[in-house]
Amino acid sequence: MAREIRITPSILNADLNNLEYEISRIASHSDLIHLDIMDNIFVPNFTFDFEYANKIITSCPIGIDAHLMVADVDLIAPAYAEIGCASVTIHAEASANIASTLRNIRNAGARAGLGVKPQTAIDAYASFIDSVDMFLIMTVEPGFGGQKFMHEMMAKVRRTRQLIGDRPIWLQVDGGVSLDTIVEASEAGADVFVAGSAVFNAQDPAAMIDSLRNLATSVTY
Ligand code: DX5
Ligand code: ZN
Repeated sequence: MAREIRITPSILNADLNNLEYEISRIASHSDLIHLDIMDNIFVPNFTFDFEYANKIITSCPIGIDAHLMVADVDLIAPAYAEIGCASVTIHAEASANIASTLRNIRNAGARAGLGVKPQTAIDAYASFIDSVDMFLIMTVEPGFGGQKFMHEMMAKVRRTRQLIGDRPIWLQVDGGVSLDTIVEASEAGADVFVAGSAVFNAQDPAAMIDSLRNLATSVTY
């Protein structure tokens, strides 16, 4: 089956002092820019507050895929949709009311994503399937770029692909995606790939995105 593959580079490990330049180097090769929002509570790291993220989002030449790794997610997630993110992903572990937050994200005009950490099974969240535009399976513990891809998450990716069936729901993997791991993730059924250090540590980030896309697309599925 022909699938549409999407590459969403994470700017977490880009040069944040030259973000406009960093994004301009990759924008025309990327589907969306993946923006990691961390609050130092849900994960042991902090990235941007809402005000700073707003500046990045409104000045970005292509759509933003916001990945909210924050404890107080139900309140803030719709606000990220309202300021123009193309996609807003919440973590199941952080939300007190998943259904209403996903609905609020959609009502504010963004695609609604639901993510799970490595220790969290997906089956408990299968009932939200009709409220979701994307599932995110973390392939590292959220918090930092540059970690090792967890191959053992592929069973969860396969299970999620099975749950999705014919629905037009995207299936994203995030963490450790590189030339060495993207084929395995694509074979398991992922079709949206976050890549941070693989892209920004490359000599030519745009060419790296193309190579990742070609590898993911080469998988017959
Ligand atoms: C980790 C973040 C990822 C991270 C990916 O918590 O959610 O998006 O930036 O970086 P790499 O591709 O280097 O693992
Ligand atoms: Zn992320």
